[in-house]
Formats: sequence, structure tokens, C-alpha cells
Amino acid sequence: MKQITAIIKPFKLDDVRDALHEIGIHGMTVTEVKGYGRQKGHTEMYRGAEYVVDFLPKLKLEIAIAENVVEPAIEAIINAAQTGKIGDGKIFVTNIEQTIRIRTGETGEEAL
Ligand SMILES: Nc1ncnc2c1ncn2[C@@H]1O[C@H](COP(=O)(O)OP(=O)(O)OP(=O)(O)O)[C@@H](O)[C@H]1O
Ligand SMILES: [Mg+2]
Repeated sequence: MKQITAIIKPFKLDDVRDALHEIGIHGMTVTEVKGYGRQKGHTEMYRGAEYVVDFLPKLKLEIAIAENVVEPAIEAIINAAQTGKIGDGKIFVTNIEQTIRIRTGETGEEAL
């Protein structure tokens, strides 16, 4: 199992969710986050310490999926979330060691 962590522009949430539904992915966790990429990492000195300013609001999507769905999921997210302008976001893929569905006790891909 893999986890996709996608940082997207907030107004793209519905499009991304619809695109994932279309390929059979139905669960996700969404968190409001703030961040910056290459353009917004200004640093500012304040009382001798360096502070980062200009965090922008983004949404973080966490999606647990079977390994064979990773590529279609990435493609769906890109197609739905891309505007072509800066700040479109990023996708990170990590390993998931185990998944347990609390209600039934199912584990692994059965639990997704
Ligand atoms: N290296 C990173 N590590 C963790 N989060 C990141 C990283 N880069 C970007 N992000 C997150 O993704 C959000 C969007 O990043 P963004 O799309 O601006 O990346 P970028 O590399 O600057 O690309 P672009 O040039 O298209 O803007 C950031 O606000 C931040 O939350
Ligand atoms: Mg950027």
C-alpha cells in the first residue's frame, strides 16, 4: 500500500475528488494547511532570527491506495489540479506498512 500526499489549491478540491472517484478511489483525509514552494520562501530577520513569511493556504489530501493504483491516481490528480500557474502544488508518495479497518478488523488492501 502507498500513501499519496497531495498539496493542492483549495478551489481544486471538488475536481480532484471527482477525478479520484472516477477511477474508484473513495476515501481521503483533507486538512487545511499553509505552505510555500519556490517562490514564496522569503525570509525576514526579526530580532536576530530568520523568519519565513508569506505562507499560502493549501489543502493537504492524504489518500491510501493499493500500489497498482498509484500511477492512475497521480495522473487523475494532476489533470484535475493543474492550472499551469505557480503554486499548483505537489504530490508525495510514501509507503504504508499496514492498514486496519476498525469496524471489521480487516487488514491490508482489504481495509482500504
Ligand atoms: N519541498 C516541499 N516540501 C513540502 N511541501 C512542499 C514542498 N514544496 C511545496 N510544498 C507544498 O506545496 C505547496 C505548493 O507548492 P508549489 O506548487 O508552489 O511548489 P513550487 O515548487 O513552488 O512549484 P511552482 O513553481 O509551480 O509554484 C506549498 O505551499 C507547500 O505547502
Ligand atoms: Mg510555488
